[in-house]
Amino acid sequence: LPRGPVLGIESSCDETAAAIVAPDGRILAERVYSQIADHAAFGGVVPEIAARAHLAALGAMVKDALREAGLGFGDLAAIAGTAGPGLIGGLLVGTGYAKGVAIAAGKTYLAINHLEAHALTARLPGLAPVRPAFPYLLLLLSGGHSQCVAVEGVGSYRLLGSTLDDAVGEAFDKTAKLLGLPYPGGPSLEAIAQEGDARAVPLPRPMLHREGCDFSFSGLKTAVAQLVAAEPPGALARARAADIAASFQAAVTDILGDRLDHALKLCPDASAIIIAGGVAANTAIRTRLAAVAEKEGKPLIAPPLRLCTDNAVMVAWAAQERLAVGQASALNAPCKPRWPL
Ligand code: KG4
Ligand code: ZN
Repeated sequence: LPRGPVLGIESSCDETAAAIVAPDGRILAERVYSQIADHAAFGGVVPEIAARAHLAALGAMVKDALREAGLGFGDLAAIAGTAGPGLIGGLLVGTGYAKGVAIAAGKTYLAINHLEAHALTARLPGLAPVRPAFPYLLLLLSGGHSQCVAVEGVGSYRLLGSTLDDAVGEAFDKTAKLLGLPYPGGPSLEAIAQEGDARAVPLPRPMLHREGCDFSFSGLKTAVAQLVAAEPPGALARARAADIAASFQAAVTDILGDRLDHALKLCPDASAIIIAGGVAANTAIRTRLAAVAEKEGKPLIAPPLRLCTDNAVMVAWAAQERLAVGQASALNAPCKPRWPL
């Protein structure tokens, strides 16, 4: 297969992204357009709006990225699109675009699994002080996914545990909504939690100490809903909201710390622990996971936030990893809204 720069496209949820990455991992251009403002009024991602916004943004973003890299379509070795898991409308827009360019320019196409792209980001040369060797552990903590994966090689992933109900970011978003905080809830909940007392409100810690490393967050969210319902009518007092937010964040932190501890028992030879997803931005969570990692003598690698959340660098890089082992996709490769690793 030809080697050279790869154009990656990400459109599985509410970020439209395009990036060009060289075979050696150099990022030649990267663009991300967050649709948060398009969805804010609805309190969550609206699939139809997301697909249309991807379509509106993508062409110009790719043109900009090519200009920044000083390349034309003809200079690319391949075009890669996220083909799942995700919202089908967005996946069809992104992969349709990628396939169209691949056909027109006579290039290789790669259908990339979004979770695999998160999993391989840590191997981008220069990202971590020491590039993690296989196997390593990935803790993916985003709005759409919560899972723990042993990354054993390119294309070789062992799912150790995942959420039984809500993703952790989703739990933050729903809890924030209950507390009357703005969307997206994670950052606003973290901010108000700083004013609160994390021991003020007793909350459950589902799955704590349970075998394996599955997660569950819906019970926690329900407990918050009951607390809020028991409040006197009218707007929730800010001090009370802060105490609930701090207590919620402490419960999630305890759960994630415990789950990481258990995940390491399922993959004792992990060379490192990688955290990814928007929730990895949370300082309390990051600090706890770092403490667990240190106790186990493993390095914790948190890619810079722009590579932790949804982006296209990870898609282009995963394609480079696939090309390096001689793999590409057929032009009729389908999109898969559900596509476990
Ligand atoms: O990875 P991401 O940008 O997008 C996907 O879900 O794919 O993650 C977004 C999620 C949202 O649920 C958001 O509320 C959460 O990450 N999040 C946070 C923080 N920043 C973003 N959750 C907790 N604390 C934060 N500081
Ligand atoms: Zn993601």
